[in-house]
Amino acid sequence: MRSVLVYFSPTKGTKKILEKINEGLNIEATIEIDLCKPLAVQKKLNEDDICIFGAPNYGGRIPAFAIEQLRKLSGKGQPTICAVTYGNKSYGNALADLMNIVSNQGFKVISAGTFVSEHSFSNDKREIGINRPNNVDYNTAKTLGKKSLEKMEQASANINDFNIKVPGKVPKGKPLHLPRMESRPLENCTLCLKCKQECPINAIDHQAKCDDKKCIACFACVKGCPEKARELKHPIISLISFAISFSKDKESKMFI
Ligand SMILES: Cc1cc2nc3c(=O)[nH]c(=O)nc-3n(C[C@H](O)[C@H](O)[C@H](O)COP(=O)(O)O)c2cc1C
Ligand code: SF4
Ligand code: SF4
Repeated sequence: MRSVLVYFSPTKGTKKILEKINEGLNIEATIEIDLCKPLAVQKKLNEDDICIFGAPNYGGRIPAFAIEQLRKLSGKGQPTICAVTYGNKSYGNALADLMNIVSNQGFKVISAGTFVSEHSFSNDKREIGINRPNNVDYNTAKTLGKKSLEKMEQASANINDFNIKVPGKVPKGKPLHLPRMESRPLENCTLCLKCKQECPINAIDHQAKCDDKKCIACFACVKGCPEKARELKHPIISLISFAISFSKDKESKMFI
């Protein structure tokens, strides 16, 4: 038996949460499907895998690019845990969205969680969801893994009977589309091109310039730059960042 971690995690918060859920599951053999790497969806799944799916909330839903990638995977009723991260404002309908997509692809969702993680928009000048996930969040993630395993191991367990309720509704229509944005290298850019490697949709060229027609504003390049030499500025981002920087600390939660 293997655990399979499937995540879209441009700024790595979701990935960290999935790793902790996996620690709680305590299954030695693990493979990862990183949806930021387009070819990752070609990895083969086994019928006896246990899957953990994770994605962030972007404006109440799962990011459009993650949805596209998830729809390339197909399951055969593998027991599945779904986790959504959010930047301490709200998770909107993102968990219902993720569970719906994963179920439609043939996976059997048995448990789920919502986890606070540093907001992609957070920076030194305006901190949002800073130092999250913290140890409390990680413990919730580990407990979710442990309890999910116990649930499956119950003598009478038939996973087809598991039906969990989570807050939110399955969203209709198209996922959030932000106005065109362009992430830019700053003066201290060394042209190391780490940002180019991090970009899930290949929007950055060899001069570290970004194609604003492609950019999905995921912040992978900004947070992944070792020199802090990249920015993604937009009046909408400044406005939202200001409004949500006063949000009270939220709690990570599990649904089992
Ligand atoms: C375009 C965009 C929209 C976002 N919308 C929300 C939101 O509506 N509410 C919220 O709390 N966090 C929001 N976030 C923050 C992310 O959900 C959060 O930072 C998440 O942990 C990022 O996951 P990652 O680190 O795995 O990339 C948004 C982030 C981005 C980039
Ligand atoms: S990662 Fe940073 S320093 Fe390296 S090329 Fe990109 S912007 Fe420049
Ligand atoms: S250029 Fe845009 S899509 Fe690419 S990593 Fe940066 S923010 Fe994400």
